[in-house]
Amino acid sequence: MRTPLIAGNWKMNTTVSEAKELVHKILKVLDKIENVEKVICPPFVSLAAVAEILKYSSIKLGAQNMYFKDKGAYTGEVSPLMLADLCEYVIIGHSERRQYFNETDGLINKKVKAALEAGLKPILCIGEKLEENEAGKTEKVVSRQLYLALADMDRLSGTVIAYEPVWAIGSGRSATGEQANETIGFIRQKIANLYDRVTAQNLRILYGGSVTADNISEFVKQIEIDGALVGGASLQAEQFISIVRQTADIRSHLASG
Ligand code: 13P
Repeated sequence: MRTPLIAGNWKMNTTVSEAKELVHKILKVLDKIENVEKVICPPFVSLAAVAEILKYSSIKLGAQNMYFKDKGAYTGEVSPLMLADLCEYVIIGHSERRQYFNETDGLINKKVKAALEAGLKPILCIGEKLEENEAGKTEKVVSRQLYLALADMDRLSGTVIAYEPVWAIGSGRSATGEQANETIGFIRQKIANLYDRVTAQNLRILYGGSVTADNISEFVKQIEIDGALVGGASLQAEQFISIVRQTADIRSHLASG
């Protein structure tokens, strides 16, 4: 069975001191919850401070973005090598990066490759927009994003995929468990076609989009869904702890039953 993963994407929220405060609030409780991989992704400027706090804990650190070059004259950018010193994970191709910063599938492909090369585990985000969903184009869009993001890559190593329908992000309108399970099952099938069955079976695919403590159970009880990428709710300590705890409980229940 795949180990479930709950990742908190803090997006552009928290100052360094707020980030430290939030980590201290979740640290003790989350540290003890087993059988779920716990990852938090604070803003770049807080990574070093948060890494220090998490040093001896079971909570892992991720970044929200990176450039694909190792170093050089790229003012304002952060490289895979810099992150590899601090983090285990890096979110790549988030829909907000695609939408507001014009990230293309080609650029995302370069970033995924560079992350793996630096020893980081990419959390590759894909997902359709509302109008694409309404036009019945979900599968077409996600398979295109997948093929392009993974172009010329012969292995996925520790890559994680997050299916985040754009219309569900920050909208309070999540997909249903069944909808997400169906699309994630479709993504897994595409991975089997692109690579092989074993790769597809081992790959973790998360759902993201308005996940809260009230609806997490709907997702993690589904057979294809391996956890969640949580935005807004990851900024509230009790919410995030409850999401991780419910995931652990549901998964151990499923494993024993
Ligand atoms: P929300 O959970 O706030 O909808 O954000 C989801 C997301 O974009 C996580 O990357």
